[in-house]
Amino acid sequence: MLIKDINRMKEVIKGVKKEGKTIGFVPTMGYLHEGHLSLIRCSKRDNDITVVSIFVNPIQFGQNEDLDRYPRDLERDEKLCRQEGVDYIFVPSAEQMYPEGFSTYVQVEELTGGLCGAFRPGHFKGVTTVVTKLFNIVQPDRAYFGEKDYQQLAVVKKMVKDLNMNLEVVGCPIVREKDGLAMSSRNKYLSPKERESAVALYKALVRAKESFEKGINSVEELKKIMEETIISYPEVNEIQYIEIVDPDTLKPKNVAEEGDVVALAVFVGNTRLIDNIRL
Ligand code: PAJ
Repeated sequence: MLIKDINRMKEVIKGVKKEGKTIGFVPTMGYLHEGHLSLIRCSKRDNDITVVSIFVNPIQFGQNEDLDRYPRDLERDEKLCRQEGVDYIFVPSAEQMYPEGFSTYVQVEELTGGLCGAFRPGHFKGVTTVVTKLFNIVQPDRAYFGEKDYQQLAVVKKMVKDLNMNLEVVGCPIVREKDGLAMSSRNKYLSPKERESAVALYKALVRAKESFEKGINSVEELKKIMEETIISYPEVNEIQYIEIVDPDTLKPKNVAEEGDVVALAVFVGNTRLIDNIRL
């Protein structure tokens, strides 16, 4: 069932809670793909009912980012959710979520300074604010986030811990295309040629992991290997960052250790793609 109104969603949740049922929640910005569907399947497995939200959250996009052209197809999303047995699809409007005079934000101060946070000021503040609002409306027992957005997962976990929110945040593995490209709604922006080059991110991550397994643990050296791999793909425009970080603190390392996260952001054509792998 599709629900657009915030109060209606709250009423439905009240009823579900009264019946003593557990609620799994999958927040998304829509244009669903197998990555999103994997989260839905995890939620279905663990909970009595599953709520998926579809909301392209304006406050997590920067001035020069892709808010206006972010891909949308509610009809298709609805069909996919129905196929997966989603109980409620929550699709609030921006007007209802951020009425005139809205002025309260949630900000995680640790973990948001590096990686994507360094290049997208205000992004995580927008994410944690909307996720808090969605949590308050849906009141889930468990919420599902992809490791594809590793920093986002870490930041949301920290927020839930710091603010004593009453739910469990569950991280789910990255779902990839056959050639290794991490699935993303933004892959739609890629031209056929760019799509071929987009595998650069995964190839570089795999090379870093293999090099680490062969004994190279200097981050400088690993970064160099990754850069070489990435720039060999013709449609790559810019490497925004490559970092090897501690999986909990997200602090950059000089010497890589097992369990560290290798994360990167790369522009293929004009499309910014991110990916990561655990060593
Ligand atoms: P969106 O990009 O639509 O992603 C929704 C969820 O799907 C996130 O938890 C993301 O990590 C996960 N996801 C995306 N691609 C994935 C993949 N290839 N494999 C596994 N999981 C994947 O992330 C957001 O929306 C927003 O920031 C949101 C949390 C909804 C707040 O607005």
